[in-house]
Amino acid sequence: MKVTVVGAGNVGATCADVLAYREIANEVVLLDIKEGVAEGKALDIWQKAPINLYDTRTVGSTNDYTKTADSDVVVITSGLPRKPGMTRDDLIQTNAGIVKSVTENIIQHSPDAIIIIVSNPLDVMTYQAHLSSKLPRNKVMGMAGILDTARYRAFLAEELNVSPKDIQAVLMGGHGDTMVPLPRYTTVGGIPVTELIDPDKLTAIIERTKTGGGELVKLMGTSAWYAPGSAAAQMVEAIVRDQKRVFPVCIKLEGEYGIDDCYLGAPVILGKGGVEKVLELDLNEEEKALLETSRGHVKDVMAVLDGLSK
Ligand code: NAI
Ligand code: 2OP
Repeated sequence: MKVTVVGAGNVGATCADVLAYREIANEVVLLDIKEGVAEGKALDIWQKAPINLYDTRTVGSTNDYTKTADSDVVVITSGLPRKPGMTRDDLIQTNAGIVKSVTENIIQHSPDAIIIIVSNPLDVMTYQAHLSSKLPRNKVMGMAGILDTARYRAFLAEELNVSPKDIQAVLMGGHGDTMVPLPRYTTVGGIPVTELIDPDKLTAIIERTKTGGGELVKLMGTSAWYAPGSAAAQMVEAIVRDQKRVFPVCIKLEGEYGIDDCYLGAPVILGKGGVEKVLELDLNEEEKALLETSRGHVKDVMAVLDGLSK
């Protein structure tokens, strides 16, 4: 299996490293527009192989897409990250152009690839990749839900003093402050979380999750990369190993949840066909209303993208 990661910055390099040391692919190509950076990071990851004992080949490329040819999966992380005070949506103009040109180059050399978008604003950049690749919806998806649920699970594990491994959760909607964590579908070792935590503490954790990306931007002056890079690698793994994992993923909804033509996070089955099925939960009225708010927000930003390309 061959995987390309576009963008050798914080998230892309982390993703390539996880793909390599966990031997998720035989070959990982890391591509960036900055001269020498991808080659250097790919070489550094390869030189770690004798220490960490893996044999995945890592290859770097400065904007030479012939090296990415026949990739099975491509992760696109290229684009600006946000700085303190910025929202993800502020990145749209610059990142739309980058995602468009990168996707066109990728498809030219790997027409059968499955594409995972990481660049922000996530839901709308996934829409951009869909427009530029013309691939069916099962082959173009965005990474956000695994990261957002990981933050939620980590906060819950800390509060309850349990292993994060035992916390299962699903979250829906856009990757932003309107995301919809679903406490009704959160369990701790099979026990509903609502039986274990004070409602006020749960509400505070949900609010912290919604602004979890911003919390890290404030601390570091740029956005996070360890958890985002690992989350993207986990999606790649589910696809290349045909694991049929159930993850929240950004996907074009086509009637599910009564929503059409909008890119939103929803639980799906991920396997060798990409998104093999969108799972439909029986949401209550409050959850439906939150999802509708999130849909409205993403649709507004999709309309901004449509306006840019006119
Ligand atoms: P970064 O600045 O460290 O890396 C971005 C890389 O993209 C840079 O090395 C840059 O040279 C490269 N790049 C720019 N234009 C390019 C082009 N046309 N072709 C190839 N490479 C190009 O940024 P970081 O922290 O890695 O974040 C990347 C993106 O991922 C940002 O848009 C950020 O907002 C987003 N992000 C999304 C997350 C999510 O949950 N979906 C989580 C974390 C970050
Ligand atoms: C995050 O949530 C900025 O989307 C990025 O960390």
